[in-house]
Amino acid sequence: YVIGIDLGTSSVKTVLVNKNGDIKGEATASYPLIQERPGYSEQDPELWVSGTVACLKKLIQENEVSPEQIEGVSFSGQMHGLVLLDEQNKPLRHAILWNDTRTTKQCREIEAKLGDKLLTITKNAALEGFTLPKILWVQENEPELFAKAACFVLPKDYLRYRMTGLVQMEISDAAGTLLLNVSEGTWSTEITEAFDLKEGFCPPIVGSTEATGTLLPQFAEQTGLSSNTKVFGGGADNACGAVGAGIVRTGDALCSIGTSGVILTYEEDKNKDFAGKVHFFNHAHPGAFYAMGVTLAAGYSLTWFKESLAPELSFEELLAPVADVPVGSEGLLFTPYLVGERTPHADSVIRGSFIGLSGTHGRQHLARAVMEGITFSLQESLELFRQAGISVERVISIGGGAKNPTWLQMQADIFGIPVVSLKNEQGPAMGSAMMAAVGCGWFSSLKECADKFIGYGATYEPIPDHVEKYRRLFQLYQQVYS
Ligand code: XUL
Repeated sequence: YVIGIDLGTSSVKTVLVNKNGDIKGEATASYPLIQERPGYSEQDPELWVSGTVACLKKLIQENEVSPEQIEGVSFSGQMHGLVLLDEQNKPLRHAILWNDTRTTKQCREIEAKLGDKLLTITKNAALEGFTLPKILWVQENEPELFAKAACFVLPKDYLRYRMTGLVQMEISDAAGTLLLNVSEGTWSTEITEAFDLKEGFCPPIVGSTEATGTLLPQFAEQTGLSSNTKVFGGGADNACGAVGAGIVRTGDALCSIGTSGVILTYEEDKNKDFAGKVHFFNHAHPGAFYAMGVTLAAGYSLTWFKESLAPELSFEELLAPVADVPVGSEGLLFTPYLVGERTPHADSVIRGSFIGLSGTHGRQHLARAVMEGITFSLQESLELFRQAGISVERVISIGGGAKNPTWLQMQADIFGIPVVSLKNEQGPAMGSAMMAAVGCGWFSSLKECADKFIGYGATYEPIPDHVEKYRRLFQLYQQVYS
């Protein structure tokens, strides 16, 4: 067996996976967000560790596996969160998470100081969610505490440290710090020096399927695991989500509709230029990358709509009549900017809209327009990939958008290419387990593991008449922002 640990924003999920890729057991534990002021979002790293210990114990007890049967453990982690450690590797404060937005001023400082180098080195724009702005915020606002900082890690790398005693940072997560030279896969001394970060502040980098160490005896004892169990690097949650959906070769893109929505594509050319309009991070597959666009309010838009206008209905009841509404919702257009937008506008102030509302529209039209608006927003990211010369042949759809056949067909019609769902969707936890499976030598690559572990459901082919209608509507959609 291998174990995948997905350290998320609201909970940790662990899965026990056998050599066929079957999930043999699962355990989860949740922990709270600390939101002391508007825009603040923090977490206590100790709760990640205690939650994981509880899950691992449960996984082993309930599934009656002997510790020696578990060959390896790996991780998926919420990205970007800052965990500052002192000389003894103790956290100096709560972690500042990816969804904390207090750092707009620091983002402008980074742009001013680095100029064009920001994009050439990090391949990404300075966004509030990323780690370097958080480091600068602590440097400016908590200087006495910052003076005690010896190094920093990211959430899942902190968890790995507590399991192995080794302070390291895994590459696909390091990519989201704004401190990594993404195409070289090394820390940028140009950036660390520009912001007076001392030597050793950025820990040694490890690969996703690389064996990073074994479990500390006390951790093994606490959980019932063996201290021979190998511990692998793992990956950022988006990289693991991609691996868990089989996005390990060019031509496939991932469409994930959760609270937020993600469009992501596998890339081998380290010099692809997206001008910072989409994220460009190192993938878990060695030497590979992924480009990613984010819609902030994807599933959230539909949840908002249901809770505000149809609280008495289930999602199934709300969405059933949508199948009978024609393409384009009879003249109604929705933009999903309920909490601002990330790709392509990077605008936290813009808000959403319904346009073209008529007395003939019913709730089913509004619901369809919301689904179409979310999908148009994801299509904007796909268009940016295409403009950069990426050819996307198929979309693998996961999350809420993959649960509804009308939405899957809509994705095929708006994206203009075939869309498939997964047979047994397990999310980033599965991707992380696959990294352990490859690390243990069960497979020679993540590609080979994906071929064995991942099964696909039905394919939705684009319907030419719908594609044409949506192509025209998408042009209107794109004008709404300006
Ligand atoms: C990616 C991002 C989120 C987090 C969620 O840039 O901010 O997807 O990874 O955990």
